[in-house]
Amino acid sequence: MKTIRIGVIGAGRFGIYHLHAFRQMESKSAIQLAAISELDPVKRKLLELEFNIPIYSDYKEMIEKEDLTAVSIATQDHLHKDVAILALSKGLHLFVEKPLDVSSEGAREISDLAKNNNLLLQVDFHKRYDPYHIEIKQLIEQNKFGNFLYGYCHMEDKIIVPRDWFKDWVSHSSPIWFLGCHFIDLMIWLMGSKPVSVYAKGQKIKLKGLGIDTFDAIQSMITFENNAVITFDNSWILPEQFSSIVNQGFRLIGTEGIIEADSENRGTLSCFSSENGVRNHNSGFMYTIKESSGNEKYVGYGIDSIQHFAKNLCSLNNGETLESLNGTYPSGRDGYEVSKVSEAIHISINSGKEIVL
Ligand SMILES: NC(=O)c1ccc[n+]([C@@H]2O[C@H](COP(=O)([O-])OP(=O)(O)OC[C@H]3O[C@@H](n4cnc5c(N)ncnc54)[C@H](O)[C@@H]3O)[C@@H](O)[C@H]2O)c1
Repeated sequence: MKTIRIGVIGAGRFGIYHLHAFRQMESKSAIQLAAISELDPVKRKLLELEFNIPIYSDYKEMIEKEDLTAVSIATQDHLHKDVAILALSKGLHLFVEKPLDVSSEGAREISDLAKNNNLLLQVDFHKRYDPYHIEIKQLIEQNKFGNFLYGYCHMEDKIIVPRDWFKDWVSHSSPIWFLGCHFIDLMIWLMGSKPVSVYAKGQKIKLKGLGIDTFDAIQSMITFENNAVITFDNSWILPEQFSSIVNQGFRLIGTEGIIEADSENRGTLSCFSSENGVRNHNSGFMYTIKESSGNEKYVGYGIDSIQHFAKNLCSLNNGETLESLNGTYPSGRDGYEVSKVSEAIHISINSGKEIVL
């Protein structure tokens, strides 16, 4: 069986999970974590020790030299496009962190190139892999909701995310590009319906006061083809003392049913005298287990989403076609739809008008 060689570009806070997800598949599949490209020399040194594979500062050189089958991209939100275009134009299958791109034009260009070159393009919209959401999707497919009427989604980060973790690049992103895109994709996927118009408001107070030029919060009202109206509250200024890094959940109401999902408080809390306050645990996203070898293994829906790309590569390797995989994963076209509505949200904030898509 042909070895499937994957290169990871951008091994920062989240790219590290791409590396683990692919490495963990090596012993039981044709997947091989072949190479890494990372700009930061300090990170490169640490990665060298941990992964023992070629590490490049220049992703173009990595693509040139490594005889890859695919790459995965976990660079900052606004730095996906150039890398994606080069990889696709070199005939490589592609996994991209969300959002596909921070412009609809860029996302369309990437998506079209993948289609024209007959390559797999998958976007990391991991909300589709959360088992709670999978069950809700199945209830929807049993027609339990009737006609969707309205709904509400929230995804909110603690302030440490834009202020401390990503202060170098948050001004190129926003609570919609970084957070909102997850639930926009989830609603499109759950309802099987696309957004048709959007009206949004946003505020810049807290982060602006800290010298960081991005929105604190964005509220968007999106109307879908099926006439459902869903509102999305997204922010990244929750106090440091909040009970988890991210507060998230949604409600969805149809003529025949309602679902309420709290994805932050899933029923497990902890509180210790050595820590600051109460913590809620959404452990299903990502956690580690010990294997019989003694090695730690990452599992959870955050890992499933990444590994699904590699599994799709294995399917292609075994003779399946892109057409047969169609609809089973978050595609480039799905990434484009989300970027289109995310961009329209920002246009609506700036213009004060409802934007028809
Ligand atoms: N799916 C999720 O749950 C999830 C969670 C967090 C972040 N993300 C997404 O992952 C992406 C990365 O976020 P992060 O938190 O890891 O950011 P980060 O800033 O920690 O890491 C980005 C890394 O990319 C590297 N990089 C940038 N340009 C490069 C290039 N040309 N070649 C090689 N390396 C390059 C940087 O040096 C940095 O180490 C973002 O798009 C973000 O939205 C997804």
